[in-house]
Amino acid sequence: MTSSTGPFIAAIDQGTTSSRCIVFDRDGRIVAVDQKEHEQIFPKPGWVEHDATEIWTNVQEVVAGAIAKAEITAADVKAVGITNQRETTVMWDRHTGEPVHNALVWQDTRTDALCKELGRNVGQDRFRRETGLPLASYFAGPKARWLLDNVEGLRERAEAGDILFGTMDSWVIWNLTGGAEGGVHVTDVTNASRTMLMNLHNLAWDERIAESMGVPTNVLPEIKSSAEVYGHVKDGVLAGVPVASALGDQQAALFGQTCFAEGEAKSTYGTGTFMLMNTGDQIINSYSGLLTTVGYRIGDQKPVYALEGSIAVTGSLVQWMRDQMGLIKSAAEIETLASSVEDNGGAYFVPAFSGLFAPYWRSDARGVIAGLTRYVTKAHIARAVLEATAWQTREITDAMTKDSGVELAALKVDGGMTSNNLLMQTLSDFLDAPVVRPMVAETTCLGAAYAAGLAVGFWPDTDALRANWRRAAEWTPRMSAEQRDREYKSWLKAVERSMGWVD
Ligand code: G3P
Repeated sequence: MTSSTGPFIAAIDQGTTSSRCIVFDRDGRIVAVDQKEHEQIFPKPGWVEHDATEIWTNVQEVVAGAIAKAEITAADVKAVGITNQRETTVMWDRHTGEPVHNALVWQDTRTDALCKELGRNVGQDRFRRETGLPLASYFAGPKARWLLDNVEGLRERAEAGDILFGTMDSWVIWNLTGGAEGGVHVTDVTNASRTMLMNLHNLAWDERIAESMGVPTNVLPEIKSSAEVYGHVKDGVLAGVPVASALGDQQAALFGQTCFAEGEAKSTYGTGTFMLMNTGDQIINSYSGLLTTVGYRIGDQKPVYALEGSIAVTGSLVQWMRDQMGLIKSAAEIETLASSVEDNGGAYFVPAFSGLFAPYWRSDARGVIAGLTRYVTKAHIARAVLEATAWQTREITDAMTKDSGVELAALKVDGGMTSNNLLMQTLSDFLDAPVVRPMVAETTCLGAAYAAGLAVGFWPDTDALRANWRRAAEWTPRMSAEQRDREYKSWLKAVERSMGWVD
């Protein structure tokens, strides 16, 4: 039995590699966790898919698992919040609940040619001006267009009103609230801001953009705030509990790290890495390759915007070393292997597996390892793998400083990779700034729980949430400026080598 006394808030994190449910108490402490990985499907180079039905089954299992571990019932849970891998796109039949195709994952590059064509015909600026996003295969709108063009008969079924589109928040909420028997078809402003179909200024679907993208608006969910009651869980262990928040996982982490003031920023180290800076009610256009996105919106309050630096491959590079290369047996082993050598032995690894995201947005890039000699061992490669995450973060912080004019004082970090001390020290060295990790590193779920709790009055306001934030660890720079600058130059040279690999 849990030592915390209820009531509680539950959060579901439907992530890229796994689905998770965490139960939190009023102090923001974790009471119980359950988690299950799902299959990563790679049908062709650059293509990445998920089975949305498998994901929904896993979500139900982890919810049941977490509630059982906490030894509580639905009566103890005041609300459930949702957070999710963003941009991953699923379309399904509204009458049967059957997905029409595997979900196209955010890392999937199959819409690259389509994005180039849209750029030529409609113009890059047109999309960026309204949606805050550069034309790239990363976002959901082009993925929906691909499905409509490539799944036989889908466009006709969509136009007849039989098909629903969603990012994973919509898919999970629709199923939780009843599916084909009355499920609500909604998304929140943060997830909608990753589709390339929402106008960032009025937070509504942009008819003209949707038309240019070739996506009929009747398939799109209703856009809601990030914290309000969308409906109630229909079946299972949480039957009757209000579904009261949805935030894309990176925005949820911003919220969980309590970055409520303008200028506050966090970086989350998961499959990819995403740094978001709160820019208040200002929509800041980036000139340095960052995205402009919605940070969160609580009920009918004003929306809070953010600047984002997105890195496609960080934790997934470690998984690749484990699963595809077999160089390590567990993700944790990378730290031991990398620590067995003093440095990278001259090797630099640019993991442009899904092209390069921020600040380059080059979908023609592919992964390279540069600087190889016979001296290099797998331990040096392990070191280069960790350094790749740190250098990519450095490029993002440089872009943030350029766009916002604010020098980084310290970086708040979270996510699975932050348990790697060597990586955290390297990060502090490359950024030349302190790196700070909070007590609850599960800030993604925490953010979704906080938003759901605010929606149902479990927490009174954001001040109460701030009071829960506690520092657990801090790393400070130890590297000389001369060494940092020399190695940064080598990294940038390796990045150049990765570009222009595919047409
Ligand atoms: O934009 C993609 C992002 O939401 C995925 O996050 O934590 O599953 O790598 P993560």
